[in-house]
Amino acid sequence: MIQFLLNRELRTEHDLDPNITVLGYLREHLGKTGTKEGCASGDCGACTVVVGELDGERVRYRTLNACLTFVASLHGKQLITVEDLKHQGKLHSVQQAMVDCHGSQCGFCTPGFIMSLFALQKNSAGYDKGQTLEALAGNLCRCTGYRPIIDAAEQACCQPQPDQFDAFESETIARLKAIAPRETAELNSGDKRCLVPLTVADLAELYAANPDARLLAGGTDLALEVTQFHRELPVMIHVGHIEELKRIEVSDSTIEIGAAAVLSDCYEALSHEYPDFGELLHRFASLQIRNQGTLGGNIGNASPIGDAPPLLIALGAQIALRQGNSQRLLPLEDYFLDYKVTARQPAEFIEKIIVPRAAAHQVFRAYKVSKRVDDDISAVCAAFNLGIEDGVVTQARIAFGGMAATAKRASACEAALLGTSGSAQVIERACAALAEDFSPLSDLRASKEYRLLIAQNLLRKFFLEQQSPAIATRVTAYA
Ligand SMILES: Cc1cc2nc3c(=O)[nH]c(=O)nc-3n(C[C@H](O)[C@H](O)[C@H](O)COP(=O)(O)OP(=O)(O)OC[C@H]3O[C@@H](n4cnc5c(N)ncnc54)[C@H](O)[C@@H]3O)c2cc1C
Ligand code: FES
Ligand code: FES
Repeated sequence: MIQFLLNRELRTEHDLDPNITVLGYLREHLGKTGTKEGCASGDCGACTVVVGELDGERVRYRTLNACLTFVASLHGKQLITVEDLKHQGKLHSVQQAMVDCHGSQCGFCTPGFIMSLFALQKNSAGYDKGQTLEALAGNLCRCTGYRPIIDAAEQACCQPQPDQFDAFESETIARLKAIAPRETAELNSGDKRCLVPLTVADLAELYAANPDARLLAGGTDLALEVTQFHRELPVMIHVGHIEELKRIEVSDSTIEIGAAAVLSDCYEALSHEYPDFGELLHRFASLQIRNQGTLGGNIGNASPIGDAPPLLIALGAQIALRQGNSQRLLPLEDYFLDYKVTARQPAEFIEKIIVPRAAAHQVFRAYKVSKRVDDDISAVCAAFNLGIEDGVVTQARIAFGGMAATAKRASACEAALLGTSGSAQVIERACAALAEDFSPLSDLRASKEYRLLIAQNLLRKFFLEQQSPAIATRVTAYA
């Protein structure tokens, strides 16, 4: 049984297909059709809803894509949809702002924009254009041209009106505390089950008993198997309610990130230590997906175009794996064996990711090349982590995504650079070595020739920027 608040109504679900997404649940199960389905793949934002979670003595509101969220992940939380905003016959101030600023034409995208604006208003202390563009980057509109919607954001953030969510906040907090999960929950229907453990020990035990289960973190990748490939996932174990897996701890030498920490929560620690990692996270999918997707899931799906793995490999990150009561540490570069093949054993899971902190003389840069700046997958993602002392390259860890079947180090390129001063001839030799390291494929994102040339040009760019930092642009998009 799982329990959650649908705005202020307590929902208790016993017999419900765990493969149903929140979008399917709202539209088909409850007949609440305000939340729209555009793409069913996380790209358009028409299905955006807001989920409220207890954060100490307040409720933290975050947007999610309902089309990528399985219902079990709502356990113990508050789901707010566009239908919940109007109160006592009066539009919410973000809805009124959209009306006043003419932010809606055909209206199909509007509920999604309204929910992104609602979360933006709740999370901001005034209007900030950068924050607004970030909040709206995961919402597409084919009609308005965005300017009126940005005007509506400005009005909504500059003139927020107290609303029913403020008025009922203490009641909501009390009710969320009352339904806070206390033991492993389960949502099932027929043979299909989704288990929701609360501790790592319970996860290890449940996974050992169900080694064929699929681990569900944010579901931003896994849900596509259901919505795009029409597969059924008979047994899932949701890791998103395990507090130990969501911790982020910074020590003198490492940043340890629980595998179920969502990408929005990873931002602060990683961007503080490695600004380019922060820039990359800004370019990672959309805010809705970063609020939901995890670092563990980004490694767990073993995608050759996942953005975090090349950066983590270049930084020399390790992962802690657990199977039953056994734990082991593995350098991330040894985790990826082949296309979607990893060193993970049956019933083994990623517990945390351990990232070394920055050292003296270390230069770390990352570049993402994609067709759009926002909400796009990399054609090539490059990470350079070099030790440079007195002008000499003393250490080199260089890794790429999009260049091979897995995220992978460029060993020949590294060897060509080590012990040198990075002269023009050395850089050209290192560029040639990239052709030994990688034989990329052509696909819809880029041709193999383009990929290799981009990788070589990024290496040249890295060294040019070392010589003239003024020309540096951090994470780069080429159209
Ligand atoms: C529209 C869209 C845009 C996207 N843009 C980007 C992008 O810009 N860059 C990018 O890199 N990715 C992108 N993605 C892919 C995806 O969002 C990320 O890979 C995300 O980090 C996955 O995390 P998750 O928590 O949602 O994983 P899930 O979907 O829950 O899981 C993914 C896989 O990892 C496994 N897994 C989860 N947790 C663990 C664990 N603890 N141990 C072992 N295995 C585990 C799952 O079983 C599953 O096989 C995008 C996806 C969408 C839909
Ligand atoms: S329906 Fe397009 S993002 Fe969910
Ligand atoms: S108003 Fe038509 S898609 Fe946005």
